[in-house]
Amino acid sequence: MGDSGIAEKLVEVLHRPDGDTALRPVHTIGISATGYFKPSPIAQNFCIAEHFREKKTDVIVRFSNGSGAATVRDGWSDVRGMAVRFHLSDKSDTDLIAMTLPEFFSPTPEDFLAFAKRAKPKPYKGETPWQKIFNYLHLILPKRDPYPGETISPDEGAIEFADQNAHAQLGVVQAAAIGAPVSYVRAAYHAVHTFIITDPNKTRRWVRFAWQPIAGVLETNPNLPPVDDFLQQELKDRLSAETARFSLMMTIGEVGDDFNNSARPWPPHRKRIMMGTLTLNAVPEDQIEHSEKLSFNPGLLTDGIEMSDDPVLKVRVDAYKVSSAWRSGTPCPFSQR
Ligand code: HEM
Repeated sequence: MGDSGIAEKLVEVLHRPDGDTALRPVHTIGISATGYFKPSPIAQNFCIAEHFREKKTDVIVRFSNGSGAATVRDGWSDVRGMAVRFHLSDKSDTDLIAMTLPEFFSPTPEDFLAFAKRAKPKPYKGETPWQKIFNYLHLILPKRDPYPGETISPDEGAIEFADQNAHAQLGVVQAAAIGAPVSYVRAAYHAVHTFIITDPNKTRRWVRFAWQPIAGVLETNPNLPPVDDFLQQELKDRLSAETARFSLMMTIGEVGDDFNNSARPWPPHRKRIMMGTLTLNAVPEDQIEHSEKLSFNPGLLTDGIEMSDDPVLKVRVDAYKVSSAWRSGTPCPFSQR
């Protein structure tokens, strides 16, 4: 089990001045949808977990904007989240939490704490055209212009930190270029950490999961002025007319891959298995009960899936419990086991 001292510090540091302590400190704005997961025919050959064996498992999914600001800024470039809860037949649950960033910023909780401290939002100003030209001439990428209404930003601190800490560079560069999806169901989401799965012969494999949208990935046009609030209505409208689907892809790690550091990618040619399809068909009416009060936890697992020794994954188990308690969310079922 992780260290709840650092977990508390992390949750404290993640809170933004423009956030709301009654809400999540990150991924603050979100909406849930319901549906079901059907495993692929080969999924049960790789993992004995119930949702990979049973024909159909009910799910609730919360999509979110990664920012801890309590204002809806759907058109701004930001990481998005997709937290999936599978409801198993014995009334227990198991979670798979994913985000649009394929790799995390930090290999350890201590590194992430240092990163989060430096990336505390600061007043954000754009550059004058002259500064931009000066920077271009010195081969320095000019700063992006602030969005209308954007006064503070974590970007400057994050970039400074990445300049001095190589491990954060991949995450920071990817986050800077991530853009905004046209729909929560037109983005690919990565569970980032390594999990260990067990097959019917008790063989264990080190794997990483990702959700791929069947409708394809599509981003808004970054050259047009951003629209602040459209993703939630888009999901409601879409799911009242049709279903939305995702494939669950599982990449199998090999000897030499880094299993305990989610800031490092695996080589792209690793074997990938299609584990099943998620279908979403409704948006619950009561979003307070079915989104705001939900508490997901990356440690809420079931027989057949275990956590790797990734120290960031371990600290998240405590950090999410702390956060849920502080914002008076319904404790995740994991806390009651
Ligand atoms: C040390 C690293 C991390 C810390 C301290 C952290 C912390 C948190 C906290 C405190 C919350 C709010 C939980 C709640 O109040 O219910 C949260 C939510 C979330 N985090 Fe993380 N996080 C970390 C890494 C990650 C990673 C690697 C991912 C991607 C797999 C991720 C994806 C998410 C998502 C999608 C949510 C929203 C869940 C929901 O909709 O309830 N986080 N995080």
